[in-house]
Amino acid sequence: MAPWNESTRRYFLKASGIGLGTLVLGCPSNRKPKSKISGQQDGGETTTARFDAGNSQTSQVINDAGGEQATNHGDDAGPEDLIDCEQTANDIEGPFYRPNVPVRSELDLYGDAGTELTLSGRVLDLDCNPIPNAVVDIWHADPTDVPVADLVDSDSVDYDNTSSEMRYRGQTATDAEGRYSFHTKKPGWYLNGGTFRPMHIHVKVWVGDNLKLTSQLYFAGDPYISGDPWASLDRAVVLSADGPGAEKGTFNFVIS
Ligand SMILES: [Fe+2]
Repeated sequence: MAPWNESTRRYFLKASGIGLGTLVLGCPSNRKPKSKISGQQDGGETTTARFDAGNSQTSQVINDAGGEQATNHGDDAGPEDLIDCEQTANDIEGPFYRPNVPVRSELDLYGDAGTELTLSGRVLDLDCNPIPNAVVDIWHADPTDVPVADLVDSDSVDYDNTSSEMRYRGQTATDAEGRYSFHTKKPGWYLNGGTFRPMHIHVKVWVGDNLKLTSQLYFAGDPYISGDPWASLDRAVVLSADGPGAEKGTFNFVIS
């Protein structure tokens, strides 16, 4: 399968009839603080748009009732939830980004020890409208089975910066409801100087040829968040159990 790259991205947009001119991004100069999101109560299975036809997979079930990263306003919400769509903050790219990563949402491909992670959510505009066909590109360090409380310097993990496998790197496109989903292993902690960085997943979000976001997601409860110069609790995903040895979390990317 040819890797997804800039040419592929442009081809896909052209073939699907989706370009920047047809994406209603709703980019007001002032953010509307509360907006309805269509389909908020669907709670059903969806299938993420797939590009790797040779490796077709159905996305994880994304159930809105499970709690997206949003603020509910039950007092005036009516039958649908109202949520705030505050723009996701940028974060540093870091030195380990690699372009042209494979199109895939399954990154748990190597049998490494660690905790399975399903990360899912939506890409939304500032009015909480879902953005279909946004490309979510993630990369993260190798997983670990060492508990954070037992970390020592020798447990520092690495990124795959050289191999053709492009381990723990992948990109997928949002479906018609703006949904994305990745299944991977939780990354480990790596040393930055003499201090561990909190567990994190790097992300870029593209709409058409435009890079809309470069950021990082963290995980609530990580003791290294507080001392990290880049980490933010605003981008700390709350994880919950998802069966034996597995966790899941949701994060909505809001872009302008
Ligand atoms: Fe990193």
